[in-house]
Amino acid sequence: MDMTTSAVWFAIAHVFMFALIFKVARGGITAHPPPRSRPPPPPVVTGTCIVGLLRTLVTKGFREMIQDQYTKLGSVFTISVFGLKTTFLIGPEVSAHFYQGLESDISHGKILEFTVPMLGKEVGYGVDIATRTEQNRFYVDALKPAKLRCHVGSMLQEVEKYFVKWGHQGTADLKQELEQLLMLISARCLLGKEVREQMFDEVFSTFHELTDNSLRLISLLFPYAPLPTTQRRDKARARLSKMFTEVVRSRKSSNRFEEDVLQNLIDSKYKDGRPTTDAEVIGLIIAILFAGKHTSSTTSTWTGARLLNHPQHLESVIKEQQQIVRKYGDNIDYNTLLEMSILHCCIKEALQMHPPAPTFLRKVHTNFTVQTREGSEYEIPRGHTIASPLVISNNIPYIYKDPDVYDPERYGRGREEDKVGGKFCYTAFSGGRHACPGEAYAYMQVKVIWSHLIRNFELKLVSPFPETDWLKVAPEPKGKVMVSYERRPLPI
Ligand code: HEM
Repeated sequence: MDMTTSAVWFAIAHVFMFALIFKVARGGITAHPPPRSRPPPPPVVTGTCIVGLLRTLVTKGFREMIQDQYTKLGSVFTISVFGLKTTFLIGPEVSAHFYQGLESDISHGKILEFTVPMLGKEVGYGVDIATRTEQNRFYVDALKPAKLRCHVGSMLQEVEKYFVKWGHQGTADLKQELEQLLMLISARCLLGKEVREQMFDEVFSTFHELTDNSLRLISLLFPYAPLPTTQRRDKARARLSKMFTEVVRSRKSSNRFEEDVLQNLIDSKYKDGRPTTDAEVIGLIIAILFAGKHTSSTTSTWTGARLLNHPQHLESVIKEQQQIVRKYGDNIDYNTLLEMSILHCCIKEALQMHPPAPTFLRKVHTNFTVQTREGSEYEIPRGHTIASPLVISNNIPYIYKDPDVYDPERYGRGREEDKVGGKFCYTAFSGGRHACPGEAYAYMQVKVIWSHLIRNFELKLVSPFPETDWLKVAPEPKGKVMVSYERRPLPI
């Protein structure tokens, strides 16, 4: 859950502040004496070093704070604040267990507890591991490429209809426009035509109320505290549940089948043959909406901002669209989307530079050992929280050449920088056990939007290239992203 992990980091940054008050006077970097014949624990940043750490956090931000420690201590180190030990694992060499470890050895722990009142106790972290694993299979099945083909036409219709209102020329806030558009696409392809046609405004304003009140710092730390935010969250959840229950029951009672993701969840069955209940379907669809909405809209905006800021890459994308139009005409379908490999790399690189989930967190239940690229071994003790900070691992210079340069060609044939360092070099969609099941769907919708825009408009970025708003629970482009547009057919 992308928004989730960044939310938790935001929370941790604040916990650091509180911890400082109590812990400021102690310590330094300590290397714990290794128990005989077992690898030592990682170097620990604690006590007075935390003061410096916090200074960097406040003045330069989270990324610089972790980057400093990475430079000083290497790819594995622990930050210990207020008894909370977080071990950072940076780079593919030390990340395999993080992504692939058994749920009994390494899991999200209580980190995602706050999602229970939001999604319901029938799904996700409200149920046992076995049930959760089966529910993950429902996501994977509902979003697998074979099931996605049927959504391209609906996505395209939404996109075409949306941009009619732009008229011939003008200026617009790309960020706001794409957020709106992606809600319409989600309504249609994920939730179905009842929501899209009859209750769009109500569903999305209630969904906004639900997420807004669930992601406040106080709700993350104390999800059940008797507070106004808790009440607003629970009221929104109940309202959303009522609306979705009506849709699910009406489909079931009229034996109506649709081709949307909601239908797939209604039709899903556990291994023992038990069908999903209405409450489970509702929890699962809210989870999908939550996981896919913000991630996709920020990615579409960053892709646009990067392309419009790099004319040479925009030119390559335009040429690719021209070639595809010459080959297949104006039509866009699933196969033509697969041929948009340059656009694909441009989206991939935007994600690499602006991951919507900048850090993943897990809890260690069983000690495990990692070996760094340099050959040092460390044992990570049970009880530690472990973090995989994408904001650093995406910028490792021995893997990514000039990582701060927007260079979509790095993924092309002959370079494939995302593969050279092994399996966990590119983790914008996480990997292993918790890999995002919506990756193919996400690329599909961003490609439908950007191929349409490029084929129909000449666009220019008229506001400065956006900074990242790290203060948002899920980082996004800061402020408006203004573009000017002029409608013109793509010269072929
Ligand atoms: C650019 C867009 C997206 C990005 C970058 C993204 C990224 C991620 C990441 C990093 C995770 C795992 C977090 C972790 O390991 O803790 C995740 C999980 C998930 N994503 Fe996405 N996602 C995107 C779009 C979508 C879309 C469009 C959908 C659905 C239509 C979706 C559905 C899910 C679901 C259901 C999970 C939870 C899986 C689980 O619990 O194991 N995502 N996503």
